[in-house]
Amino acid sequence: MSAYLITNVSVVGGAPTDLLIRDGVVAETGTGLAAPDATVVDGTGLVALPGLVDLHTHLREPGREDAETVESGSRAAALGGYTAVCAMANTSPVADTAGVVEQVWRLGREAGLVDVQPIGAVTVGLAGERLAELGAMADSAARVRIFSDDGHCVADPRLMRRALEYVKAFDGIIAQHAEEPRLTEGAQMHEGEVSTRLGLTGWPAVAEEAIIARDVLLAEHVGSRLHICHVSTAGSVEVLRQAKARGVRVTAEVTPHHLLLTDEKAATYDPVYKVNPPLRTTTDIAALRAALAEGVIDIIATDHAPHAVEDKECEWAYARPGMLGLETALSIALDVLGPQWDLIAERMSRAPARIAGLADHGHAPAPGAPANLTLVDPAARRTIEPAELASRSRNTPYARMTLPGRIVATFLRGEPTVLDGKAVK
Ligand code: DOR
Ligand code: ZN
Repeated sequence: MSAYLITNVSVVGGAPTDLLIRDGVVAETGTGLAAPDATVVDGTGLVALPGLVDLHTHLREPGREDAETVESGSRAAALGGYTAVCAMANTSPVADTAGVVEQVWRLGREAGLVDVQPIGAVTVGLAGERLAELGAMADSAARVRIFSDDGHCVADPRLMRRALEYVKAFDGIIAQHAEEPRLTEGAQMHEGEVSTRLGLTGWPAVAEEAIIARDVLLAEHVGSRLHICHVSTAGSVEVLRQAKARGVRVTAEVTPHHLLLTDEKAATYDPVYKVNPPLRTTTDIAALRAALAEGVIDIIATDHAPHAVEDKECEWAYARPGMLGLETALSIALDVLGPQWDLIAERMSRAPARIAGLADHGHAPAPGAPANLTLVDPAARRTIEPAELASRSRNTPYARMTLPGRIVATFLRGEPTVLDGKAVK
């Protein structure tokens, strides 16, 4: 195994130090380290963060390899500073059996660019009718601990209760895409002033809030762990705040786009802005940012949702919802939070690693810790060119925007996946 000496780097915003990486772990930290056999990486002006962990990534394999593969999504993740991603189950076939989750897990290992942890479906085919083989997926080589029908809501309360009961035995988590389907039939965007003006059917905030309220009560009743995907409204934050104050075992994520973009974007009719849940209002954004700072929202998760050109560059009504996220998330976090490195490390690495039970991830680079880390240049600014992204898809809402921060290097178990801002393989 190779050795790397990262010199003069600020660890999570602290005073500059050197990091010696050897045999997959951080071997030594301190100033003036020497290691003749090590490759030197000049860390001057850079910040070292624990490798980012994404709890919500759509990798599209199997089934839509034209939009993304485990390998291309893993490369996008590494370039974004990630060392682990959780792969959502809405593939084709759906990841609702031990066979499919093992396939995704194996493809992740073969790509070797990030740790790919499959999420299993809650219901067979995401149809919301019968529980999938949760136990078999948990016992498989992929060791699934998080289950989600993301893209769809587990709308049937009886099924949701059963799922929560089932995963309790192995301390698993049900990650809910909170959308009461009866309240969002035909919805095209956030229900509010802008939808009225544009004459588009709205997706009311209460469709999300009602499911979160129901599910925190179910999780409390059962005593199981619940995770809420892509929280998007101020009302959801209040429901979560109350539930957490009562001690309900609930965690929650917010996406970069829900922290930055509003429903006004729909006025462009550019489907790149179509996403589920939809972009909301400035009031919601303010509440989400405050909740993230306080910890009512635990993590930033990308909901990286690659879509092929024909599924996205069409009329708004026919376009698939979703936007790319992996290669821009850290820049958006920096833009929104500023250089609050400890908060960024907590919300984008430590907390998601803890929630997902990824023991090798989410550790500050300290002696003995697995060398999963990323180096950020906070002073750099870059203009997003969709054609330059590693993702197979192009549906970034940040095209031609100039964003702060650049990932200079990422290390997975001591081996670089990104160096000089470029993927190593
Ligand atoms: O916008 C979204 N896209 N929201 C989801 O819940 C699913 C995702 C996808 O799979 O494209
Ligand atoms: Zn979702």
